[in-house]
Amino acid sequence: MLFGRTTLSKFVIEQTRGQHSEMGALLIDVAAAVKGISALVGKGALSGVAGSAAAINVQGEEQKKIDVLANEAFLRHCEWGGQLAGMASEELEEPFRIPDDYPRGRYLLVFDPLDGSSNSDVNVSVGSIFSILARSTAGAAQKPDFLRPGHEQLAAGYAIYGPATMLVLTVGTGTHGFTLDRESGNFILTHPAIRIPAATREFAINTSNERFWEPPVQRYVGECKAGSSGIRGVDFNMRWIASMVAEVHRILMRGGIFMYPRDNKDPAKPGRLRLLYEANPMAMLVEQAGGAASTGRGRILDVVPDALHQRLPVILGSREEVERLERYHHEYDTGADRPFVSPLFAERSLFRD
Ligand code: F6P
Repeated sequence: MLFGRTTLSKFVIEQTRGQHSEMGALLIDVAAAVKGISALVGKGALSGVAGSAAAINVQGEEQKKIDVLANEAFLRHCEWGGQLAGMASEELEEPFRIPDDYPRGRYLLVFDPLDGSSNSDVNVSVGSIFSILARSTAGAAQKPDFLRPGHEQLAAGYAIYGPATMLVLTVGTGTHGFTLDRESGNFILTHPAIRIPAATREFAINTSNERFWEPPVQRYVGECKAGSSGIRGVDFNMRWIASMVAEVHRILMRGGIFMYPRDNKDPAKPGRLRLLYEANPMAMLVEQAGGAASTGRGRILDVVPDALHQRLPVILGSREEVERLERYHHEYDTGADRPFVSPLFAERSLFRD
């Protein structure tokens, strides 16, 4: 069928008609930013923007020129429309103030403009992640306005710049995937109502950190690796792309579990991934597709943020495996996985933190 397919614009206009029609207009601007980034990333070495921007971002990470340009794409495409009270980005220490020349609305856009950007140097899939919240009134947003738990998100999504560019979106009515038709320039609905299988035999984690993990994660991964010769009784497969968007996309397409758990590599960081613009939008997409998203000790979407760039442990994907890992954390915290250890001396007991 050449014409008549559902475009992203048609989908969001239909889904946000009424109370959130302004958010629909904002999502169309987000899609425009994504198309611009897709064109840039797709040029590879020919873009002339490979390499470092000779700056360090708020995360203490080296900023690449392409990170700076992707950030610009989001700001310029989304600042003008009058829907936003403010924006926050992985690349900016403080919230972005909507310029006074433009009207302001009540929505808040939070984004990671180019996640896993070091992969772009080696032509591996990268992505953009975004989340939309709302204030009760229009006006200039302040930092506390952004510090809302993920269950208050109105929309969330990511774009994956892979062999095909896709935009995967939820507005709270399931998770839906759109593929960019490079000839027409339209995102076309190709993956409606994505469902993550509840069971999986595929896990994703950076095992080079194994010695820094907590015991429940070591236990879980050890059992997966033991496969059919261990207590799970079946063989597992492992994947690690080091690009969260690509990892979550694979899980939405065929199931699996993704873990970037708490570790003690750097005691100042309770996890690697950021709550507001990585964990929360991915958690909403995964839950809307029937999966689960947890810190190991609670639902990600219920975490109340206390800082814009807060980090946390992330475990998400097929429901049965996420629940198993939550159980292992619980058994560890209560000492139930060590029946011969007095509960008084279990981790997180009376005598430990
Ligand atoms: O934003 C962080 C990120 O790039 C994720 O996309 C990815 O999952 C992770 O870091 C990779 O971390 P590591 O380099 O430790 O494998």
